[in-house]
Amino acid sequence: MTTSPSTPAIEFAGVRKDYLSHGEAVPAVKSLDLAIGQGEFFSLLGPSGCGKTTTMRMIAGFEEPTAGKVFLDGRDVTGVAPNKRDVNMVFQSYALFPHLTVQQNVAFGLERKKVAKNDIKRRVGEMLEIVSLTGMERRQPKEMSGGQQQRVALARALVNHPRALLLDEPLGALDLKLRQQMQIELKRIQREVGITFVYVTHDQGEALTMSDRIAVMNSGLIEQLGSPRDIYERPSTRFVAGFIGTSNIIDGRVTWSDQGYAVLEKGPGERVVVPVPAGVAVGRDIEVSVRPEKIDLHRTIPSNVNGSLLSGTVTEVVYHGTSTNYTVATTAGTDFVVFDQNAHDAEDVASRGERVFLTWAPQHSYPIGV
Ligand SMILES: Nc1ncnc2c1ncn2[C@@H]1O[C@H](COP(=O)(O)OP(=O)(O)O)[C@@H](O)[C@H]1O
Ligand SMILES: [Mg+2]
Repeated sequence: MTTSPSTPAIEFAGVRKDYLSHGEAVPAVKSLDLAIGQGEFFSLLGPSGCGKTTTMRMIAGFEEPTAGKVFLDGRDVTGVAPNKRDVNMVFQSYALFPHLTVQQNVAFGLERKKVAKNDIKRRVGEMLEIVSLTGMERRQPKEMSGGQQQRVALARALVNHPRALLLDEPLGALDLKLRQQMQIELKRIQREVGITFVYVTHDQGEALTMSDRIAVMNSGLIEQLGSPRDIYERPSTRFVAGFIGTSNIIDGRVTWSDQGYAVLEKGPGERVVVPVPAGVAVGRDIEVSVRPEKIDLHRTIPSNVNGSLLSGTVTEVVYHGTSTNYTVATTAGTDFVVFDQNAHDAEDVASRGERVFLTWAPQHSYPIGV
């Protein structure tokens, strides 16, 4: 089947999935409308139990929706068996054949399809090169590290050029350093093969590093869909702001509003300034988020502040090498986290119990759900 580049690789239309548990319907995916583009690196990100694996299994055909339809390359595959969908899946457990060599593991699917011997040899060779395993053809899985076995699993899943590759927390068993290395590798491999990847993770760093777009899921629903930068810089709900990275959130009433900015007065001389869309009027209660790395911490009251100013007392100081992280109990009522890059001298570090002043530029405040 030929597909126009504008046809989504994967599409969910009005999908709901309930599981039956002790005779009762348990909603796992409540309502899903989603289009994933051709060649996209797309991540489903959310806490355990939010419906990520269920969503994947509906793409693969291991689960059928209770309501709605799933399309692959524009074709309705609802009710189509998994082996007729031309998508592959990679899991955390590599599920390699232990008694076969790397070459044989990767060649397995092509041999079953009766691809010509020469073609198999060439395609396996190309794929092993892409996953950086050239020279390891004759090894068995037990003679390889976890990271190398994961590469074999990837090569095996990609060698027959599926429409899409589904990866369900594939790096969960690797240690942190190797996981970070594999994130970069996975992104490169995906670029080289040009196949649509759908990646499931509960790890926000992983999703931010690799994805073209991320769907943040919570309790069977997508809370926000966007680029890593959108999701991080412009969280649209309190859940997203809290789940992705660290956010400081201030509640307050608009006391003044002009020219696209609102001001929340927080005490004598203290205020939060936030850009808002037209129509956010004085008297309205809003929530504002600001990221810890956008805040400047001062030990004396700064003059000429353009933007937000709050004061507070330092309750924690944690040295992290590249930054010092402060917790500050503000007089505005919320605890703030501030990441201060260690670009200055040691005597500038504030200590626990000290009164400090926090400032940040107007554009670094973001109104949630406005
Ligand atoms: N086979 C099943 N039978 C009953 N409930 C299930 C089944 N699989 C998953 N669930 C439930 O559906 C919800 C979503 O699960 P899942 O899709 O595995 O989430 P995630 O992958 O995000 O951790 C959870 O509440 C889970 O307990
Ligand atoms: Mg899961």
